[in-house]
Amino acid sequence: NTGKLWGGRFEGGPSPELEALSRSTHFDWRLALYDLAGSHAHANALHAAGLLTDEDLAELHRGLTVLAQRYETGELVPDPSDEDVHGALERLLLEEVGPEVGGRLRAGRSRNDQVATLFRSYLLDHARTIGGLVLDLVEVLQQQAQEHLDRPDGPTTMPGRTHLQHAQPVLLSHHLLAHAWPLLRDVSRLQDWVTRTAGDSPYGSGALAGSSLGLDPQAVAAELGFTSSSANSIDGTASRDFVAEFAFVAAMVGVDVSRLAEEVILWTTREFDFARLHDSWSTGSSIMPQKKNPDIAELARGKAGRLVGNLAGLLTTLKALPLAYNRDLQEDKEPVFDSVDTLEVLLPAFTGMVATLTFNAERMAELAPQGFSLATDVAEWLVREGVPFRVAHEVAGACVRRCEELGIELHELSDDDLAAISPHLAPAVRDVLTVEGSVSARSGRGGTAPVRVREQLAELGAEVALR
Ligand code: ARG
Repeated sequence: NTGKLWGGRFEGGPSPELEALSRSTHFDWRLALYDLAGSHAHANALHAAGLLTDEDLAELHRGLTVLAQRYETGELVPDPSDEDVHGALERLLLEEVGPEVGGRLRAGRSRNDQVATLFRSYLLDHARTIGGLVLDLVEVLQQQAQEHLDRPDGPTTMPGRTHLQHAQPVLLSHHLLAHAWPLLRDVSRLQDWVTRTAGDSPYGSGALAGSSLGLDPQAVAAELGFTSSSANSIDGTASRDFVAEFAFVAAMVGVDVSRLAEEVILWTTREFDFARLHDSWSTGSSIMPQKKNPDIAELARGKAGRLVGNLAGLLTTLKALPLAYNRDLQEDKEPVFDSVDTLEVLLPAFTGMVATLTFNAERMAELAPQGFSLATDVAEWLVREGVPFRVAHEVAGACVRRCEELGIELHELSDDDLAAISPHLAPAVRDVLTVEGSVSARSGRGGTAPVRVREQLAELGAEVALR
């Protein structure tokens, strides 16, 4: 006996080189509690099928419980001779309850259906954790948006940008909420994923074809917290789209966070000076005493690349893989464990940084009308006066050209300048040439008018409450 999970047909044990390549305990050990939970449920299924006595069942439950306790204290560790978490736990169970009883548990199951089930269980737990962490960030964005809507001297305005160029003034709250909505959709994606994944427990699929022992996969699924077992045992053991989809959502969260991160990095530069980082959420330089660096935002930006890489690697592993289980599938775990670890360490830091960010409202308000960002308001005023938009656009463009010649802003054009550009340009056009007038005018649903942003905040709050 080689002490392995197989032996009968082998004359010698595996070479050390094979063992070194094959071993996965250094990363799959984190699945141990899920494996033990699966074993409890599987023991019950064997008992229900008349394949375990009451005494054997009780002894297996006892042994598995002892292993779980020893795992939690950190005392239970795999041996270098163990290939994976499943084999290690079987060995340890045999040590605990003896080979006679312990040797009965493997009947009707394979590591293929085990790992496919417990990897789902693990990711289901972490989907809930990560969803909660993303919601924390959404809530902090809501708070910042609320605060800047309720400022005593009016809502905070800022230059809205397209192509990174000044485009039209917007409310800071509107802009911050534009980061909250995609994150909320990520939470919703995770929840859809949870519903789908929890409906598909592969336990009972065996190696690929199902079990001949009369075990009830639905009972095992229910015991493990799934809503159903796999409809197809080959699919149950061979598919990893649940892993790829999880990795996609993780990457999407990373990408969404990175877009806000990039803005925080820009906003805290001397040139922008829109925002300031809290001391506890920024770093200094080892040589330049004056420095204050946005490391959290930079790490967020960097880690987004890593999350995308994990998804790309996984899809590449899955591409063209024949059914059913192939050992390649062992490569599904490390990238996604890394995505989980990355988000679980990144999100709390990022949320703290956003929560403590202070905005320079005066600076943003001062820049909001600059770069002729009210030119569209001139054009739309002309449209309301009955001028066709093509003409209005030309006229407003001519105003900008004239301002550039004179080195002034749109509202500084004299009555004569206006009249010289177009007979349609009455002095009343200046009424719309304020940032407050411009944002208040954008009052359709989803627009940046304070009244709409207030509604939007309530709408977001209602959505968050559903999650
Ligand atoms: N450790 C493997 C994995 O993570 C499960 C074991 C299946 N191995 C096997 N030879 N069928 O995919």
